[in-house]
Amino acid sequence: MKNLLTLFSATLLWSTLTIASANPMSRGEYLAHVGDCMACHTQNPDQPYGGGHGLASPIGTIYATNISPDTTYGIGHYTYEDFAKAMRDGVRPNGEALYPAMPFVSYAKINDEDMHALYDYFMHEVAPVAVPNRTNEIEWPLNLRFPMTIWNQLFTSPELYQYDETKSAEYNRGAYLVQGLGHCGTCHTPRSIALVEEGLTEASPKFLAGGQVGHWYAPSLRHLGEIDENELLKLLKDGRNEQHAFAGPMSEVTSFSLRHLTDDDLMSMIIYLKEIQLPMPTRFRGADHVKPSDEGMRLYQDLCSTCHGDQGQGEKNVVPALRDRGYGTKGDAMNVALVMIEGAQTAHRADRLPYEMPAYANRLTDEEITQITNVIVDNEAWNNDGVPLAERDIKTLKAEPFVASGWWVMAGGIIAVCVLILLLLRWRRTS
Ligand code: HEC
Ligand code: HEC
Ligand code: HEC
Repeated sequence: MKNLLTLFSATLLWSTLTIASANPMSRGEYLAHVGDCMACHTQNPDQPYGGGHGLASPIGTIYATNISPDTTYGIGHYTYEDFAKAMRDGVRPNGEALYPAMPFVSYAKINDEDMHALYDYFMHEVAPVAVPNRTNEIEWPLNLRFPMTIWNQLFTSPELYQYDETKSAEYNRGAYLVQGLGHCGTCHTPRSIALVEEGLTEASPKFLAGGQVGHWYAPSLRHLGEIDENELLKLLKDGRNEQHAFAGPMSEVTSFSLRHLTDDDLMSMIIYLKEIQLPMPTRFRGADHVKPSDEGMRLYQDLCSTCHGDQGQGEKNVVPALRDRGYGTKGDAMNVALVMIEGAQTAHRADRLPYEMPAYANRLTDEEITQITNVIVDNEAWNNDGVPLAERDIKTLKAEPFVASGWWVMAGGIIAVCVLILLLLRWRRTS
């Protein structure tokens, strides 16, 4: 009997332990991972949420601010209402509008319960760090914030997530996460010339239909093709699966955010994404392939085939395959060239070493990069039906800073509003 009891309490202890270690974080902390707040708001890992990265834009660099509960430099003085207003409307307690570099357009969907959990996490679990905010490097008059207020009023309409009664609970959970905290659309949705995301729900065919993130292209999530759900889960969670591996910003999304998510939440996102697929575009190249250049293939065999295989077949779960990609856009081809220029690293996880893809920017000429890219992306024998690049595309990719055209329109808009107001002021003084 005693033995049985010990066994019983041992199992009990074991199960509490596993629950504790499998789920050591509070709901608020979990949600902060889903929202990837750390990626932007932390520059120095020793000062979590003490302020973060500079986000480059043609009007200058915008720095993510200190959102630790420090009362002087952080958001320690925020009430819950202040927090919810910043998160949903992009407005500070003093009325200043935030730049849309903070994804409040997506976070507007977060429900009250989750918003409270996030607020409690930032107020009570995050340690205050006394780091002053860095001043944005934006010249007068572009640093004036009131044009942003006008932009926000014109182009954003914050709305909580609308539950779709005709769909399953998983679908709704996935939609809530993808549209809201996960802010996948920040990168994957194309932007209009006023820099507004063209669609915040699946009702718009532009929602998640592929967007530009600096010089990377975030491909359409509505043309995912035949990919198996479990393989997609592996890709989101680990940054790699049998055939593919993430690179660039998406690798960071996995490292900071997605690897912390439960399988249930990831699967809900996949269920949602699978349901909102659009018909594949008709292949615009069809049989009209350019013959892969012998020189490009020779370079590929010399430099790449040891890892990626002589037929682009890769090495399962270790080196991604470069064949069987099917239809591809110009953005997809640009990403291939970019991986060659910058290299790539598997998403970081504590339990394994990252795999590296070396960078070739200093070893290959633009022409060579073009040729290798083209034997990969436009290669019938490999079942790749993509858009070949020209040498000038590689120059564009290497140009610093790479600026999406929309930013100029926004800068132009801000200047126009400032000029208008100056004119109005003069007119009032003279009349
Ligand atoms: C893509 C980058 C990015 C992500 C992700 C992000 N933020 Fe921000 N956030 C910013 C930037 C940039 C600013 C400052 C904008 C400005 O100066 O107008 C900001 C400002 C804020 C502010 C206003 C503070 C102030 O007065 O400056 C709060 C609150 C905030 N973020 C909370 C969060 C939370 C909570 C999350 C995660 C759920 C999050 N942010 C995720 C970029 C980001
Ligand atoms: C910071 C920008 C950014 C955010 C936020 C982001 N992505 Fe991505 N994503 C990218 C880029 C860039 C790529 C292309 C690079 C690559 O595939 O390695 C990509 C690729 C992908 C791919 C592979 C698509 C394909 O056809 O190859 C999937 C799937 C994906 N993202 C899902 C998501 C989901 C789901 C979210 C939201 C939870 C998300 N992404 C949020 C930038 C982003
Ligand atoms: C030392 C081994 C190695 C060599 C050599 C190598 N790669 Fe890679 N490559 C990798 C690994 C590993 C990854 C996955 C990196 C990651 O996990 O993000 C990768 C990723 C890539 C990707 C992105 C994967 C995707 O699904 O889009 C492309 C494109 C690529 N390599 C092309 C090339 C080309 C072209 C060459 C030759 C110029 C080359 N690689 C040489 C190991 C290698």
